Amino acid sequence: EVLNLGEDLILPGLIDVHVHLRDFEEKHKETIESGTKAAIHGGITTVFDMPNTRPPIMDLKTFERREHTFRGRAYSDYAMGFLVSNNCEDAKMSGADFFKVFMGASTGGIYSKDFESDYSCAPGVVSVHAEDARTIQKRPERPPEAEIKAVERVLLAAEKLRKPLNICHVSTGGAIKAVTRSNLPWVSFEVTPHHLFLSRGDYERNGLLKVYPPLRGEDDIRTLWENFRRIPIIASDHAPHTIEDKKEGAAGIPGLETEVALLLDGVNRGLLSITDIVKKMHLNPIRVFGIRNKGFRLGADADFTVVDLKREWIVKPEEFYTKAKWSPWEGKRLRGKAVMTLLRGEVVMEEDEITGKPRGVRIDVR
Ligand code: DOR
Ligand code: ZN
Ligand code: ZN
Ligand code: ZN
Repeated sequence: EVLNLGEDLILPGLIDVHVHLRDFEEKHKETIESGTKAAIHGGITTVFDMPNTRPPIMDLKTFERREHTFRGRAYSDYAMGFLVSNNCEDAKMSGADFFKVFMGASTGGIYSKDFESDYSCAPGVVSVHAEDARTIQKRPERPPEAEIKAVERVLLAAEKLRKPLNICHVSTGGAIKAVTRSNLPWVSFEVTPHHLFLSRGDYERNGLLKVYPPLRGEDDIRTLWENFRRIPIIASDHAPHTIEDKKEGAAGIPGLETEVALLLDGVNRGLLSITDIVKKMHLNPIRVFGIRNKGFRLGADADFTVVDLKREWIVKPEEFYTKAKWSPWEGKRLRGKAVMTLLRGEVVMEEDEITGKPRGVRIDVR
Protein backbone atom coordinates (compact mmCIF):
# COMPACT_ATOMS: atom_id res chain seq x y z
CA GLU A 1 0.00 0.00 0.00
CA VAL A 2 1.34 3.41 -0.94
CA LEU A 3 1.09 6.02 1.77
CA ASN A 4 0.98 9.69 0.95
CA LEU A 5 3.85 11.05 3.00
CA GLY A 6 3.32 14.60 1.80
CA GLU A 7 5.70 16.75 -0.18
CA ASP A 8 7.90 18.04 2.65
CA LEU A 9 11.28 16.50 3.43
CA ILE A 10 13.37 17.28 6.49
CA LEU A 11 17.04 17.60 5.57
CA PRO A 12 19.92 18.28 7.93
CA GLY A 13 20.81 21.99 8.04
CA LEU A 14 22.53 22.88 4.77
CA ILE A 15 25.94 24.55 4.90
CA ASP A 16 27.32 27.02 2.34
CA VAL A 17 31.12 27.16 2.61
CA HIS A 18 31.52 30.15 0.27
CA VAL A 19 29.63 33.38 1.04
CA HIS A 20 30.63 37.04 0.73
CA LEU A 21 28.77 38.90 3.46
CA ARG A 22 30.58 42.27 2.92
CA ASP A 23 29.49 44.62 5.78
CA PHE A 24 32.30 46.88 7.14
CA GLU A 25 32.65 49.67 4.54
CA GLU A 26 30.34 47.93 2.08
CA LYS A 27 27.10 47.86 4.05
CA HIS A 28 25.32 49.17 0.96
CA LYS A 29 26.08 45.82 -0.72
CA GLU A 30 25.31 43.52 2.22
CA THR A 31 25.43 43.39 6.00
CA ILE A 32 25.79 40.49 8.41
CA GLU A 33 22.03 40.85 9.03
CA SER A 34 20.90 40.97 5.40
CA GLY A 35 23.29 38.24 4.23
CA THR A 36 22.50 35.77 7.01
CA LYS A 37 18.76 36.46 6.60
CA ALA A 38 19.19 35.59 2.92
CA ALA A 39 20.92 32.37 4.01
CA ILE A 40 18.12 31.11 6.26
CA HIS A 41 15.54 32.27 3.71
CA GLY A 42 17.28 30.05 1.17
CA GLY A 43 17.44 27.09 3.57
CA ILE A 44 21.09 27.52 4.62
CA THR A 45 21.84 27.21 8.35
CA THR A 46 25.62 27.91 8.32
CA VAL A 47 27.64 30.25 6.08
CA PHE A 48 31.40 30.60 5.67
CA ASP A 49 32.30 34.30 5.70
CA MET A 50 34.79 35.23 2.99
CA PRO A 51 37.49 37.67 4.16
CA ASN A 52 37.97 39.81 0.99
CA THR A 53 36.01 42.56 2.69
CA ARG A 54 36.83 46.27 2.76
CA PRO A 55 39.09 46.43 4.72
CA PRO A 56 40.21 42.83 4.18
CA ILE A 57 40.34 40.46 7.14
CA MET A 58 44.07 39.82 7.06
CA ASP A 59 45.32 41.13 10.40
CA LEU A 60 44.38 40.47 14.00
CA LYS A 61 42.71 43.79 14.60
CA THR A 62 40.36 43.46 11.64
CA PHE A 63 39.64 39.83 12.52
CA GLU A 64 38.62 40.90 16.02
CA ARG A 65 36.52 43.69 14.57
CA ARG A 66 34.78 41.08 12.43
CA GLU A 67 34.02 38.97 15.52
CA HIS A 68 32.36 41.99 17.12
CA THR A 69 30.44 42.76 13.94
CA PHE A 70 29.00 39.25 13.91
CA ARG A 71 28.04 39.09 17.54
CA GLY A 72 24.27 39.33 18.02
CA ARG A 73 23.66 40.16 14.36
CA ALA A 74 23.78 36.81 12.55
CA TYR A 75 20.55 34.99 11.67
CA SER A 76 22.46 31.88 10.57
CA ASP A 77 25.50 30.22 12.11
CA TYR A 78 28.82 31.25 10.61
CA ALA A 79 32.47 30.25 10.15
CA MET A 80 35.07 33.03 10.17
CA GLY A 81 37.65 33.25 7.39
CA PHE A 82 41.08 34.89 7.37
CA LEU A 83 42.77 36.12 4.18
CA VAL A 84 46.30 34.72 3.95
CA SER A 85 48.84 36.66 1.92
CA ASN A 86 52.35 36.50 3.37
CA ASN A 87 51.02 37.10 6.91
CA CYS A 88 50.93 33.72 8.62
CA GLU A 89 51.88 35.02 12.05
CA ASP A 90 48.57 36.90 12.26
CA ALA A 91 46.78 33.99 10.61
CA LYS A 92 47.98 31.71 13.42
CA MET A 93 47.09 34.14 16.17
CA SER A 94 43.62 34.77 14.73
CA GLY A 95 42.23 31.32 15.44
CA ALA A 96 40.09 31.67 12.30
CA ASP A 97 37.94 28.73 11.23
CA PHE A 98 39.41 28.57 7.71
CA PHE A 99 41.98 30.40 5.58
CA LYS A 100 41.39 31.92 2.15
CA VAL A 101 44.15 32.29 -0.41
CA PHE A 102 43.69 34.05 -3.77
CA MET A 103 46.21 32.94 -6.42
CA GLY A 104 45.13 35.75 -8.73
CA ALA A 105 43.32 39.05 -8.20
CA SER A 106 39.57 39.09 -7.67
CA THR A 107 37.15 41.42 -5.87
CA GLY A 108 39.32 43.30 -3.35
CA GLY A 109 42.44 42.90 -5.48
CA ILE A 110 44.64 41.12 -2.89
CA TYR A 111 46.40 37.98 -4.03
CA SER A 112 49.14 35.70 -2.88
CA LYS A 113 52.69 36.28 -4.12
CA ASP A 114 53.69 32.78 -3.07
CA PHE A 115 50.84 30.31 -2.96
CA GLU A 116 52.96 27.36 -1.80
CA SER A 117 54.27 29.26 1.19
CA ASP A 118 50.86 30.63 2.19
CA TYR A 119 49.24 27.22 1.87
CA SER A 120 52.00 25.64 3.89
CA CYS A 121 51.95 28.15 6.76
CA ALA A 122 48.17 28.58 7.11
CA PRO A 123 47.15 26.99 10.43
CA GLY A 124 44.01 25.23 9.19
CA VAL A 125 41.99 24.31 6.13
CA VAL A 126 42.86 26.50 3.13
CA SER A 127 40.19 27.51 0.63
CA VAL A 128 41.92 28.63 -2.54
CA HIS A 129 40.65 30.77 -5.39
CA ALA A 130 42.62 29.09 -8.19
CA GLU A 131 43.13 31.43 -11.15
CA ASP A 132 46.68 32.00 -12.33
CA ALA A 133 47.76 35.62 -11.69
CA ARG A 134 49.95 36.07 -14.78
CA THR A 135 47.47 34.47 -17.14
CA ILE A 136 44.59 36.67 -15.99
CA GLN A 137 46.75 39.80 -16.19
CA LYS A 138 47.45 39.01 -19.83
CA ARG A 139 44.00 37.65 -20.60
CA PRO A 140 41.33 39.45 -18.58
CA GLU A 141 38.60 37.26 -20.10
CA ARG A 142 40.06 34.49 -17.87
CA PRO A 143 40.14 31.52 -20.26
CA PRO A 144 39.90 27.93 -18.95
CA GLU A 145 43.74 27.72 -19.01
CA ALA A 146 43.92 30.31 -16.22
CA GLU A 147 42.06 27.95 -13.91
CA ILE A 148 43.63 24.71 -15.15
CA LYS A 149 47.17 26.06 -14.70
CA ALA A 150 46.41 27.22 -11.16
CA VAL A 151 44.67 23.99 -10.20
CA GLU A 152 47.64 21.95 -11.46
CA ARG A 153 49.94 24.05 -9.29
CA VAL A 154 47.61 23.58 -6.30
CA LEU A 155 47.59 19.81 -6.81
CA LEU A 156 51.39 19.61 -6.98
CA ALA A 157 51.65 21.49 -3.69
CA ALA A 158 48.91 19.40 -2.08
CA GLU A 159 50.64 16.18 -3.11
CA LYS A 160 53.79 17.35 -1.34
CA LEU A 161 52.21 18.91 1.74
CA ARG A 162 49.34 16.47 2.40
CA LYS A 163 47.46 19.26 4.17
CA PRO A 164 43.68 19.92 3.97
CA LEU A 165 42.78 22.10 1.02
CA ASN A 166 39.55 23.12 -0.68
CA ILE A 167 39.57 24.48 -4.23
CA CYS A 168 36.88 27.11 -4.68
CA HIS A 169 34.40 27.22 -7.56
CA VAL A 170 35.93 24.77 -10.05
CA SER A 171 34.44 25.70 -13.43
CA THR A 172 36.32 23.89 -16.19
CA GLY A 173 36.40 20.36 -17.50
CA GLY A 174 40.21 20.37 -17.44
CA ALA A 175 40.38 21.35 -13.77
CA ILE A 176 37.72 18.91 -12.59
CA LYS A 177 39.45 16.09 -14.47
CA ALA A 178 42.82 17.02 -12.95
CA VAL A 179 41.42 17.11 -9.39
CA THR A 180 39.48 13.88 -9.63
CA ARG A 181 42.44 12.13 -11.33
CA SER A 182 44.82 13.21 -8.56
CA ASN A 183 42.48 11.57 -6.03
CA LEU A 184 44.09 13.06 -2.90
CA PRO A 185 41.75 12.48 0.06
CA TRP A 186 42.82 15.75 1.74
CA VAL A 187 41.88 17.79 -1.36
CA SER A 188 38.28 18.92 -1.70
CA PHE A 189 36.66 21.28 -4.15
CA GLU A 190 33.44 23.19 -4.73
CA VAL A 191 31.29 23.86 -7.75
CA THR A 192 28.72 26.68 -7.82
CA PRO A 193 25.13 26.48 -9.06
CA HIS A 194 25.88 29.24 -11.59
CA HIS A 195 28.70 27.24 -13.19
CA LEU A 196 26.40 24.20 -13.36
CA PHE A 197 23.23 25.92 -14.59
CA LEU A 198 24.46 28.91 -16.64
CA SER A 199 26.78 29.24 -19.63
CA ARG A 200 28.87 31.81 -21.45
CA GLY A 201 25.87 32.28 -23.75
CA ASP A 202 23.82 33.50 -20.79
CA TYR A 203 26.57 36.02 -20.00
CA GLU A 204 26.56 37.22 -23.60
CA ARG A 205 22.82 37.83 -23.30
CA ASN A 206 22.98 39.37 -19.81
CA GLY A 207 26.01 41.51 -19.01
CA LEU A 208 25.23 41.37 -15.29
CA LEU A 209 26.48 37.77 -15.20
CA LYS A 210 30.16 38.67 -15.00
CA VAL A 211 31.76 36.44 -12.37
CA TYR A 212 35.21 35.05 -11.48
CA PRO A 213 35.83 32.43 -12.70
CA PRO A 214 33.63 33.28 -15.71
CA LEU A 215 30.67 31.25 -16.93
CA ARG A 216 31.92 28.60 -19.34
CA GLY A 217 31.02 26.96 -22.64
CA GLU A 218 28.82 23.90 -23.09
CA ASP A 219 31.75 21.44 -23.17
CA ASP A 220 33.03 22.48 -19.76
CA ILE A 221 29.51 22.38 -18.31
CA ARG A 222 28.93 18.90 -19.70
CA THR A 223 32.15 17.69 -18.07
CA LEU A 224 31.06 19.15 -14.71
CA TRP A 225 27.80 17.22 -14.95
CA GLU A 226 29.55 14.03 -16.12
CA ASN A 227 31.64 14.22 -12.97
CA PHE A 228 28.79 15.38 -10.73
CA ARG A 229 28.94 12.48 -8.30
CA ARG A 230 32.64 13.21 -7.70
CA ILE A 231 31.98 16.83 -6.69
CA PRO A 232 32.46 16.99 -2.89
CA ILE A 233 30.83 20.37 -2.23
CA ILE A 234 28.34 22.74 -3.78
CA ALA A 235 28.69 26.32 -2.58
CA SER A 236 27.10 29.51 -3.85
CA ASP A 237 29.97 32.03 -3.93
CA HIS A 238 27.15 34.45 -3.02
CA ALA A 239 28.69 37.76 -4.12
CA PRO A 240 26.27 40.62 -3.52
CA HIS A 241 26.91 43.67 -5.69
CA THR A 242 24.54 46.53 -6.39
CA ILE A 243 23.24 46.84 -9.96
CA GLU A 244 25.23 50.10 -10.22
CA ASP A 245 28.47 48.30 -9.28
CA LYS A 246 27.66 45.50 -11.72
CA LYS A 247 27.26 48.06 -14.50
CA GLU A 248 30.74 49.30 -13.63
CA GLY A 249 32.17 45.81 -14.00
CA ALA A 250 31.96 44.22 -10.55
CA ALA A 251 32.27 40.41 -10.72
CA GLY A 252 29.96 38.14 -8.77
CA ILE A 253 26.44 36.73 -8.55
CA PRO A 254 24.13 36.57 -5.50
CA GLY A 255 23.17 32.97 -4.88
CA LEU A 256 21.98 32.26 -1.35
CA GLU A 257 18.27 32.44 -2.11
CA THR A 258 18.27 30.37 -5.30
CA GLU A 259 20.91 27.72 -4.55
CA VAL A 260 18.85 25.06 -2.74
CA ALA A 261 15.81 25.64 -4.96
CA LEU A 262 17.88 25.21 -8.14
CA LEU A 263 19.22 21.92 -6.80
CA LEU A 264 15.71 20.74 -5.86
CA ASP A 265 14.52 21.74 -9.31
CA GLY A 266 17.42 19.62 -10.61
CA VAL A 267 16.16 16.69 -8.53
CA ASN A 268 12.75 17.07 -10.18
CA ARG A 269 14.43 17.10 -13.59
CA GLY A 270 16.37 13.90 -12.81
CA LEU A 271 19.79 15.59 -12.75
CA LEU A 272 20.68 14.74 -9.15
CA SER A 273 19.22 13.23 -5.98
CA ILE A 274 18.25 14.53 -2.54
CA THR A 275 21.18 12.47 -1.19
CA ASP A 276 23.52 14.48 -3.44
CA ILE A 277 22.28 17.67 -1.77
CA VAL A 278 22.82 16.25 1.73
CA LYS A 279 26.34 15.05 0.81
CA LYS A 280 27.45 18.20 -0.97
CA MET A 281 25.92 20.77 1.38
CA HIS A 282 26.06 19.04 4.75
CA LEU A 283 28.15 15.87 5.16
CA ASN A 284 31.15 16.91 3.08
CA PRO A 285 31.37 20.50 4.35
CA ILE A 286 31.41 19.09 7.91
CA ARG A 287 34.09 16.51 7.06
CA VAL A 288 36.30 18.79 4.96
CA PHE A 289 36.31 21.72 7.37
CA GLY A 290 36.23 19.64 10.56
CA ILE A 291 33.04 21.18 11.94
CA ARG A 292 32.51 19.70 15.40
CA ASN A 293 29.05 20.86 16.40
CA LYS A 294 27.09 19.85 13.28
CA GLY A 295 26.14 16.58 11.67
CA PHE A 296 24.54 13.30 12.63
CA ARG A 297 25.99 12.80 16.10
CA LEU A 298 24.87 12.97 19.68
CA GLY A 299 25.00 16.50 21.03
CA ALA A 300 25.26 18.15 17.61
CA ASP A 301 23.12 21.21 16.84
CA ALA A 302 19.56 20.41 15.74
CA ASP A 303 19.74 22.41 12.49
CA PHE A 304 17.30 21.44 9.77
CA THR A 305 16.22 22.57 6.32
CA VAL A 306 12.66 21.58 5.44
CA VAL A 307 12.07 21.50 1.69
CA ASP A 308 8.94 21.10 -0.35
CA LEU A 309 10.12 19.16 -3.36
CA LYS A 310 6.98 19.83 -5.39
CA ARG A 311 6.39 23.51 -4.61
CA GLU A 312 6.42 25.68 -7.71
CA TRP A 313 7.43 29.30 -7.44
CA ILE A 314 8.82 32.11 -9.54
CA VAL A 315 12.12 33.79 -8.67
CA LYS A 316 11.36 37.41 -7.73
CA PRO A 317 14.51 39.18 -6.56
CA GLU A 318 12.47 41.99 -4.99
CA GLU A 319 11.42 39.38 -2.39
CA PHE A 320 15.02 38.50 -1.49
CA TYR A 321 16.53 39.38 1.89
CA THR A 322 19.95 40.01 0.35
CA LYS A 323 20.54 43.63 -0.59
CA ALA A 324 21.49 42.42 -4.08
CA LYS A 325 17.95 42.38 -5.45
CA TRP A 326 18.75 40.87 -8.82
CA SER A 327 19.26 37.35 -10.03
CA PRO A 328 20.27 35.46 -13.17
CA TRP A 329 17.11 33.42 -12.58
CA GLU A 330 14.71 36.36 -12.26
CA GLY A 331 11.29 35.32 -13.57
CA LYS A 332 12.23 31.64 -13.72
CA ARG A 333 9.73 29.05 -12.51
CA LEU A 334 11.40 26.54 -10.19
CA ARG A 335 10.00 23.34 -8.72
CA GLY A 336 11.25 22.85 -5.16
CA LYS A 337 11.88 25.31 -2.34
CA ALA A 338 13.11 25.55 1.24
CA VAL A 339 9.95 26.22 3.27
CA MET A 340 11.30 26.12 6.83
CA THR A 341 14.68 26.50 8.48
CA LEU A 342 15.50 25.44 12.05
CA LEU A 343 18.56 26.47 14.03
CA ARG A 344 19.26 24.53 17.25
CA GLY A 345 15.69 23.29 17.28
CA GLU A 346 14.07 26.68 16.80
CA VAL A 347 12.15 27.70 13.70
CA VAL A 348 14.02 30.70 12.26
CA MET A 349 12.28 30.84 8.84
CA GLU A 350 8.89 29.63 7.75
CA GLU A 351 7.29 30.30 4.35
CA ASP A 352 9.58 33.24 3.50
CA GLU A 353 9.11 34.86 6.93
CA ILE A 354 12.06 35.20 9.27
CA THR A 355 10.87 34.48 12.78
CA GLY A 356 12.49 36.07 15.79
CA LYS A 357 15.88 37.47 16.67
CA PRO A 358 19.34 36.75 15.26
CA ARG A 359 20.20 33.40 16.84
CA GLY A 360 23.32 32.55 14.83
CA VAL A 361 26.62 31.74 16.53
CA ARG A 362 30.10 30.89 15.34
CA ILE A 363 30.71 27.21 14.59
CA ASP A 364 33.32 24.98 16.29
CA VAL A 365 36.09 23.54 14.16
CA ARG A 366 38.76 21.00 14.99
O1 DOR B 1 33.01 36.77 -8.93
C1 DOR B 1 33.57 36.81 -7.85
N1 DOR B 1 33.13 37.61 -6.87
N2 DOR B 1 34.65 36.05 -7.65
C2 DOR B 1 35.40 36.17 -6.55
O2 DOR B 1 36.40 35.50 -6.41
C3 DOR B 1 35.06 37.17 -5.52
C4 DOR B 1 33.63 37.53 -5.55
C5 DOR B 1 33.35 38.81 -4.80
O3 DOR B 1 33.85 38.96 -3.68
O4 DOR B 1 32.66 39.68 -5.33
ZN1 ZN C 1 37.26 42.47 21.66
ZN1 ZN D 1 36.75 33.14 -5.66
ZN1 ZN E 1 34.10 34.05 -3.62
